[in-house]
Amino acid sequence: RTLAAEKGILFGSALSAGTMEPAYLDILKAECGVIVPENEFKVYVIATQPDRYNFAPGDTIAGFARDNGMKLRGHTLLWNKVEFMPKWLLNIDFGANPAREAERYLRDYIKRVCTHYGDQVFSWDVVNETIDPQTGDIRDTPFTRALGFDCIRIAFEAAREYAPKAQLVYNDYMSWERGNETHRKGVLKLLETLRAKNVPIDGFGIQSHIGNDGHIKEAQHEQWRAFIDAAVGMDYKLLITEFDVNDKDLPTDTAVRDAGVAAAAKDYLDLMFSYKQLDQFLCWGMSDNHSWLQGWTPRADKTPQRPTPYDAQYRPKPLREAIAAALKAAPKR
Ligand code: G3I
Repeated sequence: RTLAAEKGILFGSALSAGTMEPAYLDILKAECGVIVPENEFKVYVIATQPDRYNFAPGDTIAGFARDNGMKLRGHTLLWNKVEFMPKWLLNIDFGANPAREAERYLRDYIKRVCTHYGDQVFSWDVVNETIDPQTGDIRDTPFTRALGFDCIRIAFEAAREYAPKAQLVYNDYMSWERGNETHRKGVLKLLETLRAKNVPIDGFGIQSHIGNDGHIKEAQHEQWRAFIDAAVGMDYKLLITEFDVNDKDLPTDTAVRDAGVAAAAKDYLDLMFSYKQLDQFLCWGMSDNHSWLQGWTPRADKTPQRPTPYDAQYRPKPLREAIAAALKAAPKR
């Protein structure tokens, strides 16, 4: 947090309600200036049933941030991806006038969530992952079926109305490894359309789950710079919202692996911090035992992934040093 602040960057991490043991929270208290709930602001947590809203898990995280003087990011108002919508919402019948009813539902949901957290959330991932990486087009969901592209516009407009002081962000996981070309193209097209239609949006959240799918050694520097240049050229602020390093294609040996993870991170962060438009940097968890990657993309050798700055015993790793070094080398913004 201190090294980042010296360069005008806000540093922090995701935190989930299931991992709030004291030793872990001590790391967050020592290192973070901003917290984002990993899952607790998602629609499948808040709205498990129609017309019922459960803010309790999210309030726990928001309370931790407030009690410790940390800022709070919000993730996410419209995760426009069917895998992460509650069943009832997937099967929702928007009736005889689906466009009108879908808009009513979306605006009402965003109003409830934004007004519940008020000004505490200073930055919202309004829309998350609406681009299909395979096609580069907007994903097919109950909202796009009823409203087309307008569901994206409506989400941002409602967020501006009900969270008028918050930074509004589009967040996605296109990455710099080979294989992400169509995804990047689709996201740029979306960012262009949002500008062309004067949609209220301030920032572009680059999730930064690097090394994804075991492609840690296939980073495309030149293409990635061109991609970021294009976003910056459209006057978007930049955020690293979910940083971690998937070590799937690195060897089992811990020292070798940690060095590989640290090197990949330094390479990536040096490039990212060279953009002065980037002023937030959040890790997707601070210790290996609490990383989503353990369950989601296990290694072939069955050893736990080592994707975060601290190990499972809460000891700092070479990745922490690499982050510190990148921050020290970063220009001030
Ligand atoms: O809490 C339940 C638990 O009660 C149950 O026993 C268990 C059995 O599966 O599931 C637990 O819920 C899991 C939850 O994480 C909490 O650990 C869900 O199944 C699981 O789907 C959920 O995964 C989260 C995922 O998003 C889907 O929401 C990950 O923790 C979270 O790290 C991940 O975060 C996403 C970002 O939101 C968007 N960008 C990509 C990123 C990584 O996938």
